[in-house]
Amino acid sequence: MKKIALITGASKGIGFALTEKLLNENFFVIGTSRSGKFENLESENFYPLKLDLSNTESIKAAHKEIFSNFKHLDFLINNAGIGPDLGTYIPEKESFNQTFDVNVTGTVFFTEPLIELINENGIILNVSSKMGSLDVCELTDSVAYRMSKSALNMYTKILTNRLKGKIKIASIHPGWVKTTIIESNLKNGRLTPEESADNIWEFLINEFESGTFWNSETGTELLW
Ligand SMILES: NC(=O)c1ccc[n+]([C@@H]2O[C@H](COP(=O)([O-])OP(=O)(O)OC[C@H]3O[C@@H](n4cnc5c(N)ncnc54)[C@H](OP(=O)(O)O)[C@@H]3O)[C@@H](O)[C@H]2O)c1
Repeated sequence: MKKIALITGASKGIGFALTEKLLNENFFVIGTSRSGKFENLESENFYPLKLDLSNTESIKAAHKEIFSNFKHLDFLINNAGIGPDLGTYIPEKESFNQTFDVNVTGTVFFTEPLIELINENGIILNVSSKMGSLDVCELTDSVAYRMSKSALNMYTKILTNRLKGKIKIASIHPGWVKTTIIESNLKNGRLTPEESADNIWEFLINEFESGTFWNSETGTELLW
């Protein structure tokens, strides 16, 4: 039987590349986007799911659809994330709330009911960022984005404690990747989404200790 991975934010960027990678590795993938449409992805092993993490009703509807159609999951990859204040210096209420709604609140409340579906020895991977590292932070930009990833990292730690011996959890920094999360990344990013997805795959298939914060670009552990 194929392993099943649920990947949020699968319509483009790193999530799309990861979806293609896992399909090539013989997984069945449930991929989410806000529209629920995936014109660029056709596979009998792909299940498109509509999900807006900033909307409680959308999260509820997605849960209903998942529980009606799937009995278990092997991987939950919380990849969807936004950075409307990336490259700015002073926090602004609207983008601050948007960032936390998606990267933190939506991600936590989407994850919680799904935990019971995840197989023993399954994995929850939170796509974080080294911009959320408290130890490494020396800059002053992107207040909401950085804080949201620190908060996501705390969720990784808490789940690690709660699910010890049952499910493995990690936060991953996918590298500096050429995506449209911020337009300048398309020019400045060091990795293609495909290269980033390959690195994340390597992490997933190698034994890792639950509660790790991993930089998949350098293949090294990150300080929290
Ligand atoms: N790119 C980098 O250099 C980099 C570095 C460190 C960490 N990351 C992290 O990597 C993850 C993926 O980023 P990316 O660079 O691939 O970004 P991206 O290309 O902008 O893709 C973001 C994905 O999130 C989805 N999304 C956006 N708003 C959403 C919402 N309200 N509810 C549910 N899904 C939503 C988008 O789908 P729709 O718009 O179709 O709904 C899209 O599939 C993020 O968590 C990001 O913080 C990226």
